[in-house]
Amino acid sequence: MIEIQNVTKTHRLGETEVHALRGVTCSIERGSFNFVVGPSGSGKSSLLYLIGALDQPTSGDIRVDGHSLAAQSTAERDAYRRDDVGFIFQSFNLLSNLDAVDNVLVPFLPQGVSAELRNRAEQLLRDVGLGSRLHHQPRQLSGGEQQRIAIARALLKSPKLILADEPTGELDSQTGAEVFRLLRELSSQTEATVLVVTHDSSFVTASDRIIRMKDGRLAET
Ligand SMILES: Nc1ncnc2c1ncn2[C@@H]1O[C@H](COP(=O)(O)OP(=O)(O)O)[C@@H](O)[C@H]1O
Ligand SMILES: [Mg+2]
Repeated sequence: MIEIQNVTKTHRLGETEVHALRGVTCSIERGSFNFVVGPSGSGKSSLLYLIGALDQPTSGDIRVDGHSLAAQSTAERDAYRRDDVGFIFQSFNLLSNLDAVDNVLVPFLPQGVSAELRNRAEQLLRDVGLGSRLHHQPRQLSGGEQQRIAIARALLKSPKLILADEPTGELDSQTGAEVFRLLRELSSQTEATVLVVTHDSSFVTASDRIIRMKDGRLAET
């Protein structure tokens, strides 16, 4: 369960202040599938980054399973980001000189990868339909295939929380639908909580929660 409590985020650009979030309060159920929608600039990405502790609120707090992110030490927040949160971005952030398997393993390469973890990475790639592409490099793959590598990378650590910022923004609609099918399937298997920022409401189903943003606030629904 994620509790977002009166969160504001103000960016300072020289003399000017940009109010990305002006007071957002809501809770997100564990295991739920949530869409964050709203116009460009309404604060969707800012909210996602704060929930993932990639950034800190100007005021307010976010509690995850009862733990305040604001009260945590830098080391605790680092551990939360590393162990509990899987991020999927619009640009896939793949390394061009690594093959699919190593791109999935990238967060773990510096500390050394066990055979077990490597097997798991390969299995995840099979799960997302890339079993015949394990040793291809990103430039040898389509956009949809690259995004599926990014999804496998986010899922490698079995995150409790999956945060996706316009994950299908650069994909055609059929590939986008496939990405959502995968996200749903994997989240129901692992009971992960999912938050997806998207422009495209065609992927929303009746059981999903929709969080509408406008001008840094939740819009009335
Ligand atoms: N690092 C930053 N520095 C200054 N302004 C920012 C920064 N990040 C976001 N903003 C501003 O905050 C507002 C909300 O941005 P964002 O959360 O990215 O919106 P969305 O994802 O809904 O398009 C925008 O006006 C944006 O320009
Ligand atoms: Mg955004």
